[in-house]
Amino acid sequence: MKIDKRDWIFIAIIAAVIIVFVFISGPEKTKLVPRDHNHQRFHDMIRDGKSKMDVDPHCAECHDGVKIRFPENHPAKPGAGPMRCLFCHKIKK
Ligand code: HEC
Ligand code: HEC
Repeated sequence: MKIDKRDWIFIAIIAAVIIVFVFISGPEKTKLVPRDHNHQRFHDMIRDGKSKMDVDPHCAECHDGVKIRFPENHPAKPGAGPMRCLFCHKIKK
């Protein structure tokens, strides 16, 4: 079978899709919510069946960008509406 130009374009598209999938999966890179005295009650809330949406608003009590500053390139900015911390920072059971 001869592979012509159209076949190569098709192969290139498939390869690009695979590369994107490998890129967006991979191991968890974002830091987990620590398990210390500041954060233990949030682990308890999730364990007791509270939703992440119930827990998220409490994070800003300390992580308001002033008392604790966010990294310069942090994807969520305080003030731009409610922040879904647990969407990115996972609570490990
Ligand atoms: C009582 C204050 C307080 C509250 C409330 C709080 N944090 Fe923290 N958090 C801290 C402090 C202090 C640190 C820095 C020291 C440390 O690593 O524990 C920290 C660190 C972190 C870190 C970085 C951990 C690391 O490995 O460097 C993450 C992620 C985090 N908090 C997420 C959250 C999330 C998500 C919430 C809401 C569910 C939350 N925190 C609520 C005080 C708080
Ligand atoms: C859209 C995803 C996303 C959301 C939403 C988000 N973060 Fe982050 N956060 C990250 C990424 C990515 C980093 C940088 C990589 C890392 O250190 O985990 C980071 C870093 C941090 C750090 C610094 C960790 C260190 O290196 O010491 C803290 C603290 C933190 N986030 C807390 C929070 C809190 C609290 C909220 C909610 C108010 C929040 N984040 C919402 C993605 C997110």
